[in-house]
Amino acid sequence: MLMEFFTRDGVGTVMTSAPLAQLRDATIDDVGAILGLIEPLETDGTLVKRGRERLEMEITRFSVVEHDGVIVGCAAIYPFSTEKSAELACLAVVPDFRRSGYGEQLCSHIEARAKKLKLKRLFVLTTRTAHWFIERGFVEAGVDALPEARRELYNLQRRSKVLVKSL
Ligand SMILES: CC(C)(COP(=O)(O)OP(=O)(O)OC[C@H]1O[C@@H](n2cnc3c(N)ncnc32)[C@H](O)[C@@H]1OP(=O)(O)O)[C@@H](O)C(=O)NCCC(=O)NCCS
Repeated sequence: MLMEFFTRDGVGTVMTSAPLAQLRDATIDDVGAILGLIEPLETDGTLVKRGRERLEMEITRFSVVEHDGVIVGCAAIYPFSTEKSAELACLAVVPDFRRSGYGEQLCSHIEARAKKLKLKRLFVLTTRTAHWFIERGFVEAGVDALPEARRELYNLQRRSKVLVKSL
């Protein structure tokens, strides 16, 4: 009974006519939930800090995974149309829902958004998760592989790895 009442998924059988998880583009109503999801990762340095105001302005770049009505993962796309490429940024899944495939689904969803925009390359900057991306088809590249505008913003101190995937 305690497990049923005090865990999000409970321990019983769930009967539902719709899938429990849903992947969709974010709306302004998701800002609070996304902030709650990414703030711990900003604090420990895994993700670059973005405030509420920036998130509100950039909300259409985000996609989210909703599990049973709760946002459990997010990712964002930042297109650079002149270079026919896009950055996959802010990929995060809450710890309790990791290893369920949500990270991969979000990554594929951002890839699909990039393809829809007719972009040819997706890149990601990461300090801690390079292997996860390499296992999903990204290859390591230098800072020179970044679009010029993104290169200018590259934070030398973070020493992020640049990983690229052809679409
Ligand atoms: C990276 C992250 C999004 C993956 O989410 P997820 O929902 O667990 O991903 P999936 O379920 O699709 O994949 C899980 C697999 O990746 C592996 N994995 C997780 N983190 C990893 C890492 N840093 N390096 C290599 N593999 C990793 C898991 O062990 C698991 O492998 P298994 O299936 O063989 O057990 C999640 O761990 C996370 O939010 N990390 C913190 C934020 C971050 O680093 N973001 C990337 C920078 S943009």
